[in-house]
Amino acid sequence: MKLLIIVGARPNFIKVAPLIAELNRLNKLNKAAYCLVHTGQHYDYEMSQVFFQELKIPKPDYNLGIGSGSHSWQTAKIMEKLEPIILKERPDVVVVVGDVNSTLAGALVAAKLRCSQTSNYPTNQLLSIAHIEAGLRSFDMRMPEEINRLLTDHISDCLFVTEPAGVKNLLNEGINKEKIYLVGDIMINTLVKSKTKIQKSKILKKLNLAPKQYAVLTLHRPANVDNPENLKYLFDIFTEIQKKIKIVFPVHPRTKSQLSKMFKQAKQVNNLNNLQLVEPLGYIDFLALVSQSKFVLTDSGGVQEETTFLKIPCLTLRENTERPITIEKGTNVLCGKDRKKILKEVNKILNGREEKGQIPKLWDGKTAERIIKILCQTVKD
Ligand code: UD1
Ligand code: UDP
Repeated sequence: MKLLIIVGARPNFIKVAPLIAELNRLNKLNKAAYCLVHTGQHYDYEMSQVFFQELKIPKPDYNLGIGSGSHSWQTAKIMEKLEPIILKERPDVVVVVGDVNSTLAGALVAAKLRCSQTSNYPTNQLLSIAHIEAGLRSFDMRMPEEINRLLTDHISDCLFVTEPAGVKNLLNEGINKEKIYLVGDIMINTLVKSKTKIQKSKILKKLNLAPKQYAVLTLHRPANVDNPENLKYLFDIFTEIQKKIKIVFPVHPRTKSQLSKMFKQAKQVNNLNNLQLVEPLGYIDFLALVSQSKFVLTDSGGVQEETTFLKIPCLTLRENTERPITIEKGTNVLCGKDRKKILKEVNKILNGREEKGQIPKLWDGKTAERIIKILCQTVKD
C-alpha cells in the first residue's frame, strides 16, 4: 500500500504525526510506503517547521510553497501544483486531514484525477481518498472550514470520524455507511505520545508563571479577528478577565496583523498589564501551558478537543462548534461573544465550580493504528 499524505497548516502537522509514526513502523516490515506533501499554506517557523522537529515528522518529499492568499487563489494554486505530483507518485490512497484549504484542494485533485480520461492514471489502479476528521459540522456556511469539510467528505471513500455526531451527520447527508469509520481523535494520539516531553517543558519557568495561576487564550477565526469591532469587543472582555487572573496569549499570525492595527488606532493601551502576548508556541510548550492552566479561552477546533482530554475548563468564543462531544462529555462551554456569559463562566471557574468532564470513547491514543489497519484492509479488498 502506498499513501500520499497532504498537509498544509498547523493542526494538520499535529494530526499526521502519529499516522506517520505508524507508517514508519510498517515501512520497516515492507508493508506500507508513503510520500508526504506540504502545501506551504503555513510557512513561518513557529507555524510549521517547529512541529516537524518536535513531533519527528520527516522532511516533506514535496513542498509546494504556496503561501498566503485568497481562499480561491490558495486552493487553486495547491491543485495546480499537486496534480503532477500525484500522477508521478501514483499512490493507492491520498490522505487528507482536517478542514483547511489544503484539505479540500488535495481531495479535489485526487477526485478529478480518477475521473479524468486523460490523466493516465492506470485503470487497474484505484485511487482512494481518505479523510481523517470527517463528518464534523458547524452548520455555519460562513465558515470557510465548513465548505471544506462538506465537499471533502462527499468526494472521499474512507471517512475517519472522531465522535458519534460526525457519523450521524454523514448518514444524514446520504453518505453510504460502508465508507464511515468511527476511530476516535487522532490529535489525542499525539498528546498521549508526547506526555513525557510535555511534562518536561520549561515554558512556565520561561514565562514566569505558576501552575493554575493563569489562563490561556488563542484566537484566530476570521469571525473574531478580521472585523476590528469584534476584536475590540473581545479585547474589552479580556481586559476585565485579566483583572482577576493573568492571561497568556500566543498570537496566531492572522491575529497579529489585526492586533497591531487595533493597538495603533488605540494610540494608548491601558489596563492590559496582566495580558501577556507571546509568539505562537511549539506543540510541547503550548500543551504544557494548557495542561497547567486554570482555564482556556479559545476559538480553535483542536484546542477544544485537547482541553476535553486534559480536563481543563474551556470557554469557546464561537457561536457554534463542530465538536459537540466536547460540550456533552467534555469541559467545553460555548460562549460566543456573550460578555455576560463569558464573565459568569470565568467566575464559576475561579470559584471552583467549573465543568467536570469525561474523556470521549476511542480518544485513547490508538486512532492512527486503527486508521492504518482499515486502510490496509480496504486497499487489499
Ligand atoms: C487556517 C485554516 C483554519 C485553521 C488555521 C489553523 C483555512 C481556510 N483556514 O487559517 O481552518 O484553523 O489555519 O491555524 O484553511 N500567516 C503568516 N504565516 C504563516 C501562515 C499564515 O503570517 O505561516 C498569515 C498570513 O497573513 C495569512 C494569514 O496568516 O494571510 C492567514 O493564513 P491562512 O492559512 O490563510 O488562514 P488561517 O487563519 O491561518
Ligand atoms: N497550538 C500550538 N501552539 C500554539 C497554539 C496552538 O501548538 O501557539 C496547537 C494546539 O495545541 C492544537 C493545534 O495547534 O493542537 C490547533 O491549531 P489551530 O488552533 O491553529 O487550528 P484549528 O484546530 O482551529 O484548526
